Amino acid sequence: MTPLESAQKLLDAAIIEYRGEPVGTVAAMDPGGLAADNYQDCFVRDFVISALVFLSQGKPAIVRNFLTVVMELHQQRSASAGHRLNRGMMPASFRVVHENGRESLHADFGDRAIGRVTPVDSILWWLLLLDLYRSSSGDPELSCGEDFQCTIRDILEMLLNEGFEEFPTLLVPDGAFMIDRRMGVYGHPLEIQVLFYGALNAVDDLLLDTEQNRPLRELASKRRQSLRAYIRMYYWLDMPRLNELHRFKTEEAGFDSVNMLNINPDSIPNWLEGWLPDNAGYLIGSLGPGRMDFRLFAAGNLMAILFGVVYRQQAEQILALYEARWDELVGAVPLKICYPALEGRDWQLLTGSDSKNVAWSYHNGGSWPVLLYSLVGAALNVNRRDLAGRALQQAEQVLARDQWPEYYDGRSGRLIGRRANLCQVWSAAGYLHAHHVFHHGRMVDPESDNWALQERANQD
Ligand code: GLC
Repeated sequence: MTPLESAQKLLDAAIIEYRGEPVGTVAAMDPGGLAADNYQDCFVRDFVISALVFLSQGKPAIVRNFLTVVMELHQQRSASAGHRLNRGMMPASFRVVHENGRESLHADFGDRAIGRVTPVDSILWWLLLLDLYRSSSGDPELSCGEDFQCTIRDILEMLLNEGFEEFPTLLVPDGAFMIDRRMGVYGHPLEIQVLFYGALNAVDDLLLDTEQNRPLRELASKRRQSLRAYIRMYYWLDMPRLNELHRFKTEEAGFDSVNMLNINPDSIPNWLEGWLPDNAGYLIGSLGPGRMDFRLFAAGNLMAILFGVVYRQQAEQILALYEARWDELVGAVPLKICYPALEGRDWQLLTGSDSKNVAWSYHNGGSWPVLLYSLVGAALNVNRRDLAGRALQQAEQVLARDQWPEYYDGRSGRLIGRRANLCQVWSAAGYLHAHHVFHHGRMVDPESDNWALQERANQD
């Protein structure tokens, strides 16, 4: 069996049915039964990768059913005592439960999840996928229905309402996205900000231009612009910027302070100066008062290229960094989820001594095959077909042989993750999609602002 056939077989076997219709895919089909109980669930973020494959293969029905089911589940959420319900919340995952010959759907909004983490990214992924479905399924009507329009409005009310601060970025707790454990990723993590930008892009296409919707549409559009300008400027790090940070004055009050977040130059980690090549750059992991997280998170950086968050030149510099630091950022099996890993006291304090997230494992510097599709897409986006091909080839050599592990361990990623599931569905779907993009030259839909390729992205 070729890697392609093996991946397709796993994806097909992972399909979940509800009342006779396909509605999603389970997270893992581990033959050894090692998978944690909730890997039987269909996770919203995991399914998006399956959906990319289904849509590009001309199988939109499962995506339509998924979008509808998740929307219906979100309507069923009830408020905790002492809380007023935020109607825009989406589940992290759901499963089909069989009881007394009847089927029902059970959602997890983080209330069953390990660590009770809040799946903020589910909301953003749902919007992104709805837009992708609208533009590539031949069914542009689904999102026009009043139930969908109402859900989009609820989500926007929640995301755009003023919180406790005035940054354009979204403030979220630890573990609100793919890294769904404590990892010092609270505050304003890049991945959430990039997804937020993509979701606001999506809303522009999705929310009908009616009198009722107009104020929200305008608000969303303004926020989208200020968010992008903010990320491009304040999250960006290259040598010129590092030099500025190095000489930053601190303790500046007032409206015209340069170092407005009071970043202390002593917080710049020692590894950075010798590591960052002159022609390269990346978006830092997070930014907040007195805090720059200098770690490089792959998903946020690569999706920033796909969604057109960064300038074209910045996109090229990010790929230049991947090229120059290939062994550390890609290693044996694409792709490191973040770099570098937290070690020693940092690991103790920021992960709460999490034994699954020891240095160079799992979320803490482990290698995740699912991220392959974003590297391949981003590389093609800036005409680096050479890098896309190299990553794809490396993945092809090991993933099917190793039975589609969830992640790999070690500095260079040569060990199958100690507690990784096998037959992890998004590892296979990520490969299928990367292969498709590489050989057919497009993510899914050239009309959409998100997932765009060369000509359209990063122009302004
Ligand atoms: C783990 C990952 C999360 C993923 C889930 C299902 O919890 O951290 O990102 O969605 O597994 O695969």
